[in-house]
Amino acid sequence: MSAPRPIAICPSILSADFARLAEEATAVAAAGADFLHVDVMDGHFVPNLTLGAPIVSSLAAATPLPLDCHLMVTNPDTLLDAFAAAGAQKLSVHIEACPHLHRTVQRIRALGMEAGVALNPHTAFCQLEPILPHLDFVLVMSVNPGFGGQSFIPGVLDKVRAIDVWRKTHNPALKIQIDGGIKPSTIRAARAAGVDWFVAGNAVFGAPDYAKAITALREAAQ
Ligand code: DX5
Ligand code: ZN
Repeated sequence: MSAPRPIAICPSILSADFARLAEEATAVAAAGADFLHVDVMDGHFVPNLTLGAPIVSSLAAATPLPLDCHLMVTNPDTLLDAFAAAGAQKLSVHIEACPHLHRTVQRIRALGMEAGVALNPHTAFCQLEPILPHLDFVLVMSVNPGFGGQSFIPGVLDKVRAIDVWRKTHNPALKIQIDGGIKPSTIRAARAAGVDWFVAGNAVFGAPDYAKAITALREAAQ
């Protein structure tokens, strides 16, 4: 039997106190987070507006955590260089926003970042399959993107299982990330379906003790 794949817990800065970002990033690093998930929203692709590369650059100086930037924007190609320069280590773009996805993914990797593709809940596995050999990770949205604190959509786990089956024969290094509604009561089913990296906004930043919240997620995933 192969060794179990390691879990990563990725607190989403979207649910942090934006007036104290450096402090919040430092706190989740001390609490045992693996990456800091940074939700970039443009008010067009999703109905919310958050932050851009200058804040990522400030976060990179403030935390030792790798920065995992999730671009929920209509034209991500114009931002790739700026996010690389700002210190993003992982960068995901939405399949629904990229007409030249292969070129976009190549550019992300050429800039030295790990390349991920994110899928909205309604987007099918078959649309993703041609790009999978070129990715470091897939981000499966388990809520409709735009806001923290929404309810987990369990039907997306069929897609996680399809990706997990695909990677076993084609690209075992591919990581599967899930984003939206992850908490102790939903993480176990996601883990069983094949998820490696778990984004958690409210479940971490909404808790009184970040270390206890991250430990609770890890334990519930087993
Ligand atoms: C939603 C974002 C998520 C969000 C998750 O569009 O991509 O990263 O912050 O928040 P929770 O864990 O509260 O659902
Ligand atoms: Zn996200």
